Amino acid sequence: MAIQLFVPKFAIDECLAEIRECLEKGWTGLGYKTVEFEQKWCDYTGLPHAHFINSATSGLHLALNVLKEADGWQDEDEIITSGMTFISSNHAILYENLKPVFADVDEYLCLDPEDVESKITPRTRAVLFIGIGGNTGQFDRIVEVCRKHGLRLILDAAHMSGTRLNGRVPTGDVTVYSFQAVKTLPTADSGMVCFAEKEWDDICRKKAWMGINKDTFSRTSDKGAYRWLYDVEYVGYKYNGNSIMAAIGLVQLRYLDRDNAYRRQVAAWYEEGLKGSQIASIPTAPGCESSRHLFQIHVNNRDELMLALNESEIFPGVHYRDNREYGMYKQDVDTCPNTTRMSDRIMSLPLHLGLSRRDIETIVDRVRTYGR
Ligand SMILES: Cc1ncc(COP(=O)(O)O)c(C=O)c1O
Repeated sequence: MAIQLFVPKFAIDECLAEIRECLEKGWTGLGYKTVEFEQKWCDYTGLPHAHFINSATSGLHLALNVLKEADGWQDEDEIITSGMTFISSNHAILYENLKPVFADVDEYLCLDPEDVESKITPRTRAVLFIGIGGNTGQFDRIVEVCRKHGLRLILDAAHMSGTRLNGRVPTGDVTVYSFQAVKTLPTADSGMVCFAEKEWDDICRKKAWMGINKDTFSRTSDKGAYRWLYDVEYVGYKYNGNSIMAAIGLVQLRYLDRDNAYRRQVAAWYEEGLKGSQIASIPTAPGCESSRHLFQIHVNNRDELMLALNESEIFPGVHYRDNREYGMYKQDVDTCPNTTRMSDRIMSLPLHLGLSRRDIETIVDRVRTYGR
């Protein structure tokens, strides 16, 4: 049987029971289950605020939009970011007419703090750190660099649902999670944007709901003739999450730690199997209990190995192609040599809850045979 890169697993009966509650109540939209999921997410992560939205892409946009306005950033102000990410991270910067400035990645494929520091200019306003595959990289050092230079820190935690660093959930001024279909907490499409400050969270809630200052669910508890009345304070967006996605998310959250522990077990089987071979894997940073969204290796013959594995019905992926290889992010001068180099070498091996030790042994055998 073919071995796919990702296969999400759902506690189907429990999901259906939660969804049924929404249908019976007649409430599938913003509010109700979204409120419950936000509370449960705060309890789980220890973060003070969480707003449930329709994707991490929307969350990253809101992060930059709210901070830009709160801090008075100007168009073309600079955000230090990585090329080794899904394009959403960098598009979010452009949505706000800000300028992505690329810093290089380290051995964890996360932003290298030294290179970040070397790329700071008087126009730098924030660092956008991406925890690739659930890895925390040198996150603590990035926090120090941001503090030292008075920069905001945006954490793209799309892969990090369940990741802990030295026993705690890593956070920035704003932390954005993805619950897209194949993430470690899969729904279908949704996410969570978690601001550190209440004031930012309040603004974000309005902006994610068309700039309206009172959502329809909170209006249901209003008394009197003015239940319908609201004001519009911003040119907001339709980025809110809905109760059907939250219903699935609530169930998936119950199993997140258990599922991630199994993902780490799969990764350990890979590591054990590749030991002593010429195939290198991306290490997990010290102190990081990774959600293990990905297991990544790097080889000299990536494309050839990919074809050989496909012949054996094994379907790996690539996370990611250096964003600076895309036409609209092209750079004349290569300012991130490690990102350039790794872009041609990395491969993500299948990692999901349906894989057995036997499957991993089969994959490792093929990788050792065809990889160089
Ligand atoms: C690193 C990273 N950031 C952001 C996103 C966007 O997430 P979403 O699909 O929830 O918008 C993804 C999705 O793949 C991602 O991998």
